Formats: sequence, C-alpha cells, structure tokens
Amino acid sequence: MMTGRIFLSLDFRSVGMELADFRLSGYGTVSCAPSPVNRMMAAFATDFRPAKDVNLGVGYVNERTIPHELMVEAMQAVLAKPEKYKVPFNYGGSQGSQNLIESLKRFHIEHRLGGLTQEIVDRNEVIIGPNGATSLLEGIAHIFAPGIVVTSDPMYYIYCNYLERQGFEVLTVPEDDNGIQTDLLRAKLDGLGARKDEIAFFYIITINNPTSTILSNERRAELVQIVTDLSHELGRKIPLFFDKAYEHLVHDHAVPPLTSGLLYDSTGLVYEFGTLSKILAPALRIGYMMGPPGRFMSAMIQKTSDVGFSAPLINQEIASYLLDHHMQQQIEAVQAGYRRKAHAVRSWLNEQLGDLVEHCSGGRASFYYYLTMKHFQTTETSDFFAYLARTTGDVRMDGPAADKKPRVIYVPGEHCVHPRGDLVAVGKRQLRLSYGFEELDRIEGAIQLMREAAEYARGRV
Ligand SMILES: Cc1ncc(COP(=O)(O)O)c(C=O)c1O
Repeated sequence: MMTGRIFLSLDFRSVGMELADFRLSGYGTVSCAPSPVNRMMAAFATDFRPAKDVNLGVGYVNERTIPHELMVEAMQAVLAKPEKYKVPFNYGGSQGSQNLIESLKRFHIEHRLGGLTQEIVDRNEVIIGPNGATSLLEGIAHIFAPGIVVTSDPMYYIYCNYLERQGFEVLTVPEDDNGIQTDLLRAKLDGLGARKDEIAFFYIITINNPTSTILSNERRAELVQIVTDLSHELGRKIPLFFDKAYEHLVHDHAVPPLTSGLLYDSTGLVYEFGTLSKILAPALRIGYMMGPPGRFMSAMIQKTSDVGFSAPLINQEIASYLLDHHMQQQIEAVQAGYRRKAHAVRSWLNEQLGDLVEHCSGGRASFYYYLTMKHFQTTETSDFFAYLARTTGDVRMDGPAADKKPRVIYVPGEHCVHPRGDLVAVGKRQLRLSYGFEELDRIEGAIQLMREAAEYARGRV
C-alpha cells in the first residue's frame, strides 16, 4: 500500500501537474488585489521624487505639527515615575492603559468636549485600540454579523472598501453642506422594505473624509433619533458609530461648538471613535472608542487581546502624559497651522481654478478640500490626471522619459463615491486635495500645474 501511494505522488510530479493555490477565505481572495487607491498610490510612490513631485493624495499629517520635543519630555517623565507608569515597556492590557483611559476621560470632561459631562462619561466605557482608530473600525467589522452598513456619500473609501471585502453591503446616502441628508436617509431606509432587517450598523464621520463637511448638531441629534426609531421598529438595537477622527481639527472659529452624539442617546446605541493621530502623531497609533458597556464592548476588548493587546504601552503612557500636561496648547497650535494653510490654499484655488470649479467643500476643519469641476473629468484615465501624472504620452507635456516634469497626485472622486451609489457620474469630475502633508510653497506650485492640466483637459493646449 505504502509503495503504491509513494509511486502515485511521484507520478503526479513527473507529469508536471500544477498544484492549486492556497485555499483562501472569501476576504483573502478579494484582498489579493490592492484596492484602487492603494494601487494608484503605490504606482506613484515607486518613483516618487521628493524634491520634485507633490503628493496631495495622502492623508498624512503635517510633519511640523508633530511635537518632537514634547515627545522626548513625555518619555522622560514616564520613565521617571515608575509608581504611576508601572511597566511602560511591557505588554499592556486588552482594554488599554488605565492612565490613558483616565486622561482621556478627564480631558473630555475638563474641556467639555462635545458637551460631555462627568455623568455621561461615567456611564460610558473607554477602550484603546490595538493600532489606532483603524483597528477599532476593523474590530467592529469582525464582531457584527455581515449586513448593510449605512454611511454618507462621498464615503471614507478606505473603510468602505474594507467593509465590502469583509462581506458587508455599504448603503450610501448623499450629503449636503450639513452632512448626511436625513430626509434621503429616511427614504432609502423605507426603500429597503423587508431588507431593513439586514442593517448591521450606521457609520457616520462627523467631519467627513474626503469632503471635510461638518455634520451639524441638528443632524447628529436626528441620526440618533432615526436609529432609535429603527431599533424599536426592528425589535433589536442598531448601533450608530460616530467617527470623530477630525473633530479636534475644526480650525475655523466661526464653527459653533460641536456636540457629542452620546448626549442624545438614551437607549445605548451610540459609540464614538477618536484618535490622537491628527493632533499628536499617527505613529503613536492611539485610537479609542467611547460608548456604553455591555456584550459588544466585552467582545471588542477580547478582539484587542486576540490581535496582540492594545497599542504599545509606552505610547499609551506618553499620550497620557501629554493629555495631562500639554494637550490644549498642542491642539491650538495644530489648528492654527492648518487654518493658515486652509486660507492660503483656498486663495490659490480661487485664483487658479475659480472659474472651473462647480463646488468646493472644506477649509473649516481637517485638511482636505473636495472639488467638483465644471467641465472636465478627474478620473485616473482622464486627460487632467494624465497631465499631472505625466503620462499623456506627449513629450511636450510629460518631459523626457528619464527626467519627467514635476508630477502631482490627488485622490480622484471616482474612488470616493460609492461605485453603485447616486454620485457615480458627478464623482468622475471630483477630487480630494490634501493640504496636510506638503508645505505651502509646493502646494502653490501644484495648484498652478492643476490649472495647466485643466487647460490641457479642455483641449486648449
Ligand atoms: C475618517 C477616519 N477615521 C479613522 C482614521 C484613522 O485613524 P488612526 O490613525 O487612529 O487609525 C482616519 C485616518 O485618516 C480617518 O480619516
């Protein structure tokens, strides 16, 4: 018998039979190809010339907002106080550093962030993610059974793309200047009919990525009412997740104080994500979630344990120290920096592209402008994109192959709108421009190139 089996396996090899590839999960199978934005960014990054090319596509923060000296001070302070910061280089717990959790709670209460009071914070729980807010977003997609996720359009393409690979169906509702349009949302929910029962959760970004639209306080309250009504109708709780990644980056003083969704919730449906990435440093990887305790929170903590505990303890202790000692000045400095950039970029956009832009959102919070062009497309296959990527094939536009002219990259709107949503057509004329990472002189030059690209796209060259 043995001999026969060995003979058989040798026989297969000798005829050169191909082995089938690894048997992957559904998620693994659809993740083998990079998402459209990752593919585009990777292509740009392979021969990126830092002194010449301009990246208006990445969501990186500005390097100058990262407080290097405060980081050193915080590290030293943590190491000098072992009675408070007990084992900063050891494994941390699954919920997160108690120091950091307490600092976050205190910070919210002392500054009345979102109108949160001691009483509201006390009745909610805070957990720290293993790797930024992103890892908590990933966590909820594991813990909730696949179903429909309701969000706004344009959408946070990174997360929505992931949700769909994870087996969720993303239902997008167009936003206006105040955020997701609640009348359209109600109509879409009605339109679902019996499929309403498939709704898994609502995911709403309070300052949207890509558009920087600020969700008004009225809409926040209305959304909580909508999920409360829906929960009663379906006979089970439907969670509403507010992603407040950019909530500390409201730099326009005219914006009224924004309220937390937790203020309106009496049923235990609202959870809020926050991150220190945009106001301290993305590399700390500190993201957190605040919401009512219960089965779901316990599952999130277990999930954090499963993927290797919450963020590196030393980072959490550093963040805790900075929250306790320097956060207010740090946030004000970061806001001032982006306010200055937002004004400068807006004036160049007006000068260079004013006559060509149908709509522009942003400039009051975060670091993105989202533009809708009047007459030409911005897709990866458009003339506008090709001119800026120097891939027109015409040496007069691109420069010589060995030394191409400066290139500019942005995120085309086609990747920001849901591919089966209401904004597919207009998305082809839209783009997200980030003024976070690059310095102003380079952004000014890039916007001039955008003007040239627009002329080229409109056939004027
Ligand atoms: C809307 C939104 N949520 C979450 C994140 C991720 O935050 P973190 O760095 O904490 O993972 C980002 C980052 O750009 C974001 O834009």
